[in-house]
Amino acid sequence: MKIELKNNKVFFNKGTDIQEIHPFWLRERVSGEEFIDKSNHQRLFDPNSLDPEIRIEKAQIKEGTLELNFNDGVNSKLNIETIIYEFSKDDDLVSSIKKIKWDSNLKNIKNFNYKDDFFETKEMYDLLTSFYENGFVIVKNVPTENNFLVKFANSIGSVRRTNFGEHFNVKSKPNPNDLAYTSLALAPHTDNPYRKPVPCIQILHCITNEVSGGFSTLVDGYTVTEDLKQENTDYYDILTTTKVKFKFIDKDVVLEDWSELIKLDENKNFKQVRFSPRLDFVPVMKKNELDLFYKARKRLSDLYNSDKYRIEFKLEVGDLLMMDNYRLLHGRTKYDANEGNRFLQGCYIDYDSSEGKLRHLKRKLNL
Ligand SMILES: [Fe+2]
Repeated sequence: MKIELKNNKVFFNKGTDIQEIHPFWLRERVSGEEFIDKSNHQRLFDPNSLDPEIRIEKAQIKEGTLELNFNDGVNSKLNIETIIYEFSKDDDLVSSIKKIKWDSNLKNIKNFNYKDDFFETKEMYDLLTSFYENGFVIVKNVPTENNFLVKFANSIGSVRRTNFGEHFNVKSKPNPNDLAYTSLALAPHTDNPYRKPVPCIQILHCITNEVSGGFSTLVDGYTVTEDLKQENTDYYDILTTTKVKFKFIDKDVVLEDWSELIKLDENKNFKQVRFSPRLDFVPVMKKNELDLFYKARKRLSDLYNSDKYRIEFKLEVGDLLMMDNYRLLHGRTKYDANEGNRFLQGCYIDYDSSEGKLRHLKRKLNL
């Protein structure tokens, strides 16, 4: 990949094809104190005030720099490596991290160890990379005092507050407004499918665990989706195109959102799963379509609940589980509240937090 010049036009040569780079695209990227604020890197000019027909009057390449004189009198030097980077797919750091499919055979889960200054270290970068590869990470020995969970979340980005509060306490309690606050088993589900937008990442921190049951369970919705696509195209198609209504009712709020159980992105790739059989309402559809939808949903549920895909592990005191609520389903095995206390604290953050931190660490540590 390289930049080439011909008749004061700039071309990007990919090896397989050559395309001209629009002069306006280059003009928008002019650098220098006059054009870009030194501390916040924001433009000091509005590109919409420029002439859309802007031309390059002179272009030359000198020592890795593209020197351009535009017809509006602006001369600028652009770093060629930066331009090439923008043209490459690596520009999107997160999508360049490849998801690793996993099922119940997943062994040797890589744990991270909390330490002072954890959030500004290479370990944190590795943790976030691992999070995007597997959809979850576990951090050991995270301090359990004074809602440290919230500090942890805010050190990656910002807590996403919900009507359950800034954070929530997961332990059995009388008259619970959610089944999470009982000692019952919880089948694999995603959290808050009725919220818009759905919180991206859930963090669960184990404060006390004196019971023999209450194992945490995880299922990779990405793996199940990919397998279902191979197994039955009709099921896959109807589950990726039918929107159902998710609904949550509490004494002072009614939350609703419509979504497919498996949501694809604009390129028809996996984006998100939502699954919570106690909260979903299927729309009115023709009987034959519903026939197919209900069969497909049952198959999806069977896969989510099968031993083939589920991993189980016990969270120890100080363990912090960070999981992708768009990719994974989570649950727990039942426990006997008479055996002792089981107390987890939870909160949410969004992808802007994890992605922002990842890009910051890449820049800071020169990775
Ligand atoms: Fe949950």
